[in-house]
Amino acid sequence: MSTALKVLILIVATASVTALAVATFLFPLSDGFGYLDLAFWTAAALATSAAPVRLPRGVFIAVATCPILAASFLGGPAAGAWVALVGTFELRELNGRIPWYGTVYNHAATVVPAAIGGTVYLALAGAGPFEATPLTLLAAVASGLSFFAINSVLVSAAIALREEGASLRSILMGDWAIVASSFVALSPLAWLMALVSVAVGEWAALLFGLPLATTRGAYHRVVEIRDMFTQTIRSLASAVDAKDTFTAGHSRRVQEISIEIGRQMRCSEAEVEALEWGGLLHDIGKIGVPDAVLLKPERLTRDERIIMNMHPVKGEEIIKPVKRLAPELPIIRHHHEWYNGSGYPDHLVGEAIPKLARILHVADAFEAMTAARPYRMTPLTAEQAMAELRKYAGVQFDPVMVDAFARTKYVVDVPDAGRPPMARPIPLLVQAAAMRAGAQGGSSEGH
Ligand SMILES: [Fe+2]
Repeated sequence: MSTALKVLILIVATASVTALAVATFLFPLSDGFGYLDLAFWTAAALATSAAPVRLPRGVFIAVATCPILAASFLGGPAAGAWVALVGTFELRELNGRIPWYGTVYNHAATVVPAAIGGTVYLALAGAGPFEATPLTLLAAVASGLSFFAINSVLVSAAIALREEGASLRSILMGDWAIVASSFVALSPLAWLMALVSVAVGEWAALLFGLPLATTRGAYHRVVEIRDMFTQTIRSLASAVDAKDTFTAGHSRRVQEISIEIGRQMRCSEAEVEALEWGGLLHDIGKIGVPDAVLLKPERLTRDERIIMNMHPVKGEEIIKPVKRLAPELPIIRHHHEWYNGSGYPDHLVGEAIPKLARILHVADAFEAMTAARPYRMTPLTAEQAMAELRKYAGVQFDPVMVDAFARTKYVVDVPDAGRPPMARPIPLLVQAAAMRAGAQGGSSEGH
């Protein structure tokens, strides 16, 4: 665990203890809201916390927010904070599947927004027994918004520090954006729960279990559909790897390295996602390359090379009908373009090559160089491969992407000479072709 994460946990845990103490001291439970009521809302929160839905980046969504907010509308900030502390225990925590500091942080990151959200409600709606007026509804929405804002920032900050290189913004934009709107809808629902419990009785508030369960079900389906999509793409990618046993697992490793470079380059969440799929699918066009060419141990003839070099275009054609994968098409088509313009299929030069394709090209080359291949049974060491990347930076690779790769965990302890002191000018096409011919036995990412 990084020092920054430890400091964050310490700060948020201290803040939550302080918030709980201050709320309890300053705002005793409202009239007509006793310990039994507190126990009821805690039990309601526990019931809704039991099965949270995990979003792709690790944000957990529980609909427990509803009972927490309802308790703070009825009983004041202290009631909300205590329900948040005790009512958010989940099975995962009791099974010991979360480290103790994770449990501490999760609870602290709910107590602080509950205390603040409750205070916002109190400030706007005033003290006294709960009443159903437009003002209290407005106060409930404002309270809910402050709860979600603080909670999402705290949770995302911890995830950003845990996954080094992930930016807070990208997590907020990625995971939270998916559920923000439905989250906001939970605060009027909490207001209704409070209203029904006062007007009809607490038992009637339990009827809200149904819409809450449906909401949870909806979150769950979104995540499930996404998982299904991921699994389908993975099996498609492994179809290529299965064709060529020497490159088994290649796509997966290229995907992982590309994502790391993308994070170093501070790519947006959408770009990282494109790298995720693009990394897996970049060589999908090899499905259309005959085995005799794909698996040939000797050097390819000119005609065979032409067939092999068609794979980025074929890959683009295969993936084109999948609308959801449109952002991946430039990566697939251009992952063999060279920085100096002597790559294929479009001979793009420098920045004209899509950024994500330049990232993938570096990842693809490093992976290929460090893995055994039919024509090179002994793989290069990470140090040798890094030296090759440096050598061909500005020729084959974008030097900026090589720099970014040098900062990833794959070469963290590997000696690296760094960039040459003089920036290398982009050679003319003719010179590049000559260099390429001379360098054929050396670098290059294989087929
Ligand atoms: Fe390729």
